[in-house]
Amino acid sequence: MSYKANFRIWRGDAEGGDLGDFVVEVNEGEVVLDIIHRLQATQAPDLAVRWNCKAGKCGSCSAEINGRPRLLCMTRMSTFAEDETITVTPLRTFPVIRDLVTDVSYNYIKAREVPSFKPPEDLKPGEYRMQQVDVERSQEFRKCIECFLCQNVCHVVRDHEENKQAYSGPRFLMRISELEMHPLDTEDRVETAQADHGLGFCNITKCCTDVCPENIQITDNALIPLKERVADRRYDPLQRLFRR
Ligand code: SF4
Ligand code: F3S
Ligand code: FES
Repeated sequence: MSYKANFRIWRGDAEGGDLGDFVVEVNEGEVVLDIIHRLQATQAPDLAVRWNCKAGKCGSCSAEINGRPRLLCMTRMSTFAEDETITVTPLRTFPVIRDLVTDVSYNYIKAREVPSFKPPEDLKPGEYRMQQVDVERSQEFRKCIECFLCQNVCHVVRDHEENKQAYSGPRFLMRISELEMHPLDTEDRVETAQADHGLGFCNITKCCTDVCPENIQITDNALIPLKERVADRRYDPLQRLFRR
């Protein structure tokens, strides 16, 4: 069963652009990325879109559909009514390169600013021992496909370009939290999370968690525990005494 759907797609580049109207055929079982590909094949051969796996695993096809950050390849057309106009726009938080493709280098800069895992120097490969509970805790965070939908939706940077310098965003605060919880990591990440990565900007709105296609509980399982460690470090008198 097929039908014709009305699409509005943002076309343009760093200089500016506008929404273009298209009527496209939709077949049963298709996702929004299928429709974008059909548009390229039939009406707009120069429409730019980034994608790779079409299986929700590479994190490339992030965009906004009717204003909500989503993966194009994981959004079924059956989500929408047949007579609904579907608007597809690029991620708002990152600069547009062309059409639906944005420049996400902010995220790579922030990734490089997180010091890597640092095991004890005298521990050789093969000697790492961890409790199962510690393995399971970090496994949730390692499901991240780096789609940057959480980075895109977080209000701290979504409408505040000026915060990008000081704020690493939920994906990378989650990475810091994961490493901080790792029993074999020797790097002290608590102070730096607050001072260098802007943890204090996060006021737990949970929009990041709402849009995560991997259903990672970013706020509850990564950001809040990290905030608790910062609070303990700074304000728990026993901890302060112990450190002295
Ligand atoms: Fe995407 Fe979720 Fe990873 Fe954020 S935490 S980059 S939303 S997979
Ligand atoms: Fe932003 Fe998520 Fe915190 S959306 S404010 S990082 S809870
Ligand atoms: Fe890989 Fe959509 S194309 S996640």
